[in-house]
Amino acid sequence: MELKTIEDAGYAGKRVFLRVDFNVPIEKGEVKDDTRIRAALPTIEYLLKQGASLVISSHLGRPKGKAVPEMSLKPVAEKLSSLLGGKEVGFASDCMGDEVKKSAQSLKAGEMLLLENLRFHGEEEEGDEGFARRLASLADCYVNDAFGTCHRKHASIYGITKLFDSTAAGYLIQKEVFALSKLLENPEKPFLMILGGAKVADKIGMVKNLLGKIDTLITGGVMAYTFVQAKNWEIGASKVEHDAVPLAKEIIKEVNKRHLEFHTPLDHIIADRISADSHHFATERGTVPKNWIGVDIGPQAVEEYIDCIKRAKTIFWNGPMGIYEIEEFAKGTEALAKAIGEAGVFSVIGGGDSIAAVNKAGVADRISHICTGGGASLEFLEKGTLPGIEVLKR
Ligand code: 3PG
Repeated sequence: MELKTIEDAGYAGKRVFLRVDFNVPIEKGEVKDDTRIRAALPTIEYLLKQGASLVISSHLGRPKGKAVPEMSLKPVAEKLSSLLGGKEVGFASDCMGDEVKKSAQSLKAGEMLLLENLRFHGEEEEGDEGFARRLASLADCYVNDAFGTCHRKHASIYGITKLFDSTAAGYLIQKEVFALSKLLENPEKPFLMILGGAKVADKIGMVKNLLGKIDTLITGGVMAYTFVQAKNWEIGASKVEHDAVPLAKEIIKEVNKRHLEFHTPLDHIIADRISADSHHFATERGTVPKNWIGVDIGPQAVEEYIDCIKRAKTIFWNGPMGIYEIEEFAKGTEALAKAIGEAGVFSVIGGGDSIAAVNKAGVADRISHICTGGGASLEFLEKGTLPGIEVLKR
């Protein structure tokens, strides 16, 4: 995919409107996970080094067009400053208005201003043209590095690009597009998809598109119970998305038509309740007895899935194999994380728990690409592009 990139333009003495995705968890005014902020650093550092000044903007949460103090980006400005070695990051208490314009205009080369949450104004999500125009008036050129928001046709992602002569994709977008496109275009075979976690309906479009590319599909977590139920096997009291069972049936049909290798867990860890101190043990088969809850894949499934990982040349993993928040039920997920790290093949991982598992297993640096986008990555894998990416094409 031919994107306009930041290496193509000159930024010396330019004021850049930089859209990033700093939608990070904040608790009691503190950033709880700075992964997304770190992911934007290469672009920020590059632009500053080129002699640009930056007007940085993002959304945080879903405040629905109102100023919600808990969703302020102020703690993010402090975090960004500390990640940049204490470099000053100015903070504007709104994303537009005379005061903000003045602050933006007074920026010198190498200085930065982080704007307040764009979604405090309803016009951002409405894609309002006037709103985009007011944002655009703050800078000379536009750079987008908010991969996680590129599936939204919001003002700062989509409409705004028409208002600048110079628009470009930052390093994060380039990296995400490169890795995800590699899965879609000629992945090295065998290609293994590991599908876990919940939100079956949200992932169905992506799964359908990838069925034409993969050789093997293995399932775990709520995803697996939905498939086990679709096979009309007993799942006891396991969590399942009943509405998604017809979709799972459709996928099984397609998998059979394409003669793909498809696995639901050979065995499960079952518990009498979802708690670390529950009574729990491994079953001997792929069904879950009445009143019991499947909470993780069992040891036979772990062995079989690791064998699939060892045979694969390309791996895409989304979603945990069990109830990852509870240490006792995280073992299957952690075993797969370690095996993927050790496989040494092209691997892409998405979804919070899968990412946490590779971090915990200490193999994150051996994963080819860790996605920063949730919905954006799924939609890219379903459609091969996103609205916010299309407008950055050459
Ligand atoms: C995300 O966290 O997936 C992105 O920041 C987009 O957020 P949204 O789903 O609220 O648009």
